[in-house]
This record gives sequence, structure tokens and C-alpha cells, in this order.
Amino acid sequence: MDNNRPIGIFDSGIGGTSIWAEIHQLLPHEQTIYLADSKNAPYGQKSKAEIIALSIKNTEFLLGLDCKLIVVACNTATTNAIQELRAKYNLPFIGIEPAIKPAATHSKTQTIGILATQGTLNSELFNKNVEKFQDTKIIEQVGHGLVQLIENGKINSLEMIQLLESYLAPMIEANIDYLVLGCSHYPYLIPQIKKILPPHIQIIDSGEAVARQTQNVLKEKVGFSSIENRKPIFYTNSNPKVLSDILRNQYEIIEKDF
Ligand code: SIN
Repeated sequence: MDNNRPIGIFDSGIGGTSIWAEIHQLLPHEQTIYLADSKNAPYGQKSKAEIIALSIKNTEFLLGLDCKLIVVACNTATTNAIQELRAKYNLPFIGIEPAIKPAATHSKTQTIGILATQGTLNSELFNKNVEKFQDTKIIEQVGHGLVQLIENGKINSLEMIQLLESYLAPMIEANIDYLVLGCSHYPYLIPQIKKILPPHIQIIDSGEAVARQTQNVLKEKVGFSSIENRKPIFYTNSNPKVLSDILRNQYEIIEKDF
């Protein structure tokens, strides 16, 4: 079954490009349309109702572009809104959730850390997931301010390093051996995080798993593109330079108010 319609991907901003990159690498023939809702970033401090409304707005935009499947490349939107999106629309949604399971399963110290937004850590979906791992001590930390700094192009700033040091110190102290990155923006901080963590602490994010899940759903339900090497399309409603910089100026960015 061929299906040449595009895959839609949305995030509260530029962070979901870490997920887009995994999807594009695994499925280079698929046309991808990425939506960066940077005007409304961060989602992490918003109410559940606001996150649902923004997720519906992004979905409507992508449906207007005839997407065959939508990837919610934002942990906060997934954990707060994916059930509502699935109930409202008749197409597959793939979400991104913090990779607690592989971290808890492999941890030798039975202590893991998770860095995520307030919205993700407070969500029912996240807390239901955590309940399954009663034998593991999970040190939760809200990454206050990190998304704003990334959206403002301040990944390498002193302010960023100081915030990360303050968030990671209690986890190092508690003897974690896995750090779960529970926000799609955070993989862009891995080089900085590695300088702070002792080398035995493994860092896990969910990008590759989301790409594999997208591939499975295309195979089983939706169909692959039969056209080769399609060019990705990027939309943003704010800060095109920051999006362009994170994509190393390799792609055209369309600025549009959505
Ligand atoms: C945010 O917009 O606050 C972060 C996005 C995410 O949770 O992945």
C-alpha cells in the first residue's frame, strides 16, 4: 500500500526537530512537514486545557496540509493532549513520552533521574507510567527556564550551564545511573549535560523510539511513500532564525501565523 501524503510533526517550538531528525534519517523518502509553535512556547507551564487547545490548533493546520499521520514531538503536548486528539480525529497520532521503562529496567543503582517540564511531570499519563516502577527511585526535576533559553538561541550560555548544574547536582548526589530527558528540546543540551554528569551516568531520550514507532504505524496502517528523497518543509510562527540555526541553515523555513 503506497501513501504519498506527508507526515505532520508538531512541537511547542524548535525542540521537536530532534525527533524530526530521527524520523527523517529512518524514513528519508517520507515527506515531513514540521510545525514549530514557537510563538506559544513553552507549553510546560500552561494548563491542560490550554495545551489541548494549542494541540488542536496545530493538528488542524497539519490536516489542512493533508497529513496522513501526526507525530506530537512534544512531551508536554503528548502527556496532556494525545488522548483528546485521538478521540477527536480519525488518523494515527504518535506521541513522545519519557523513556522511564528502559532506564528503570537497566538501572543498577535502582535510582534514575528525569528532567522534564512541569506539565509533563504533573500529567496523569506520566504518573500512571511511573507507578509501574515502584522498585525504582525516580528523582524528578522540572527544567524551569531551559526551553525558553533554547528557544532564544542560548544553548551555550553561562545561564544554561548554571541552571543545568543546579538541576543535576541533586541527582548526582542521589546516585542515579540513568538520566531520562523528558522534553524534546533537551537532546540539544546533551553536550552540556555530559560535561556535568560523571561518565558512568547514561542519558536516554525517546527520539529513536518515536521514529521506529512511526515506521511501524506506516507499515501496518498508513502506507509508505513511493516517491524518493522528499524535501522536508518547516513552518514557524516566530523566530525563523533560531529554527534555521538549529537545522544548520540546510532547509527553507516558512514563517506563517498559525
Ligand atoms: C515545552 O514547550 O515546555 C517543552 C516541550 C516538551 O515538553 O517537549
